[in-house]
Amino acid sequence: MATAAIKWRAEVACKLCRNAAVKTKGQWLKANVKVMAKDVIIACDFSSKEQTLSFLDKFTGRKPFVKIGMELFYAEGPAIVREIKARGHKIFLDLKLHDIPNTVRKAMSVLSRLDVDMCNVHAAGTVDMMRAGLEGLTREDGTRPLLIAVTQLTSTSEERMQKELLIDATINDCIAKYAENAKEAGLDGVVCSPLEASLVKEHCGKEFFTITPGVRFADSSKDDQVRIMTPAQAREIGSDYIVVGRPITAAEDPVAAYERCCKEFLNE
Ligand code: C5P
Repeated sequence: MATAAIKWRAEVACKLCRNAAVKTKGQWLKANVKVMAKDVIIACDFSSKEQTLSFLDKFTGRKPFVKIGMELFYAEGPAIVREIKARGHKIFLDLKLHDIPNTVRKAMSVLSRLDVDMCNVHAAGTVDMMRAGLEGLTREDGTRPLLIAVTQLTSTSEERMQKELLIDATINDCIAKYAENAKEAGLDGVVCSPLEASLVKEHCGKEFFTITPGVRFADSSKDDQVRIMTPAQAREIGSDYIVVGRPITAAEDPVAAYERCCKEFLNE
């Protein structure tokens, strides 16, 4: 990518820093949230530190935003987060917390010390739980990473949601309500399928982030993803961050695949 484009994106990211104030149970919680520019997040779904670092070693120029999920975190612990952060990558720590509010508050307080850029909770944990997570994540100086909510997992069908979870609503109504709850709790956005991004924006406004997995190039394999969009389509429907795994990690030339993704999604 051209240096000018990198510089432009860095400037946009800086301008987007904002102060947010959220009313929690006991107090107004002021947070200095660094809102980053739209980006491509690589899902580093590897099981070991060696595999992950050897993959990231390929990126000698630009440092991609990476997602660390449960598999890698449980295998390697917080040290892998510190190591990737020290290499200059932004990190989305995808641990999807869901527990009683007190436990989530304390767990988030521990995660806030890892200096990640984004982390998440399940919206199904209720507004109180999401608020508690936000409180825990907010450091004493008011700074915190972005906090986003998982609405309904894309692996949950409407039929299973209704029959097994006894949620008597359409999946779209459920996603819209969970996103509204996340907004009410003061969160910054939700993870959703690209097909749901416009629904979320309609209900929660343009500023409310949508982070969308299920992205595939027009000419690449779908793998096990069903509801997919290309990076360009994800940009057109207003997705803020796309999470892309195998189209990049399993590509013959991962750096070229990443650059292609950035080109299509960011219109560079
Ligand atoms: O390899 P692929 O591009 O399908 O990876 C997508 C990533 O996004 C994986 O880490 C997957 O766990 C995650 N994800 C998803 N669908 C969701 C939430 C997360 O695919 N609803």
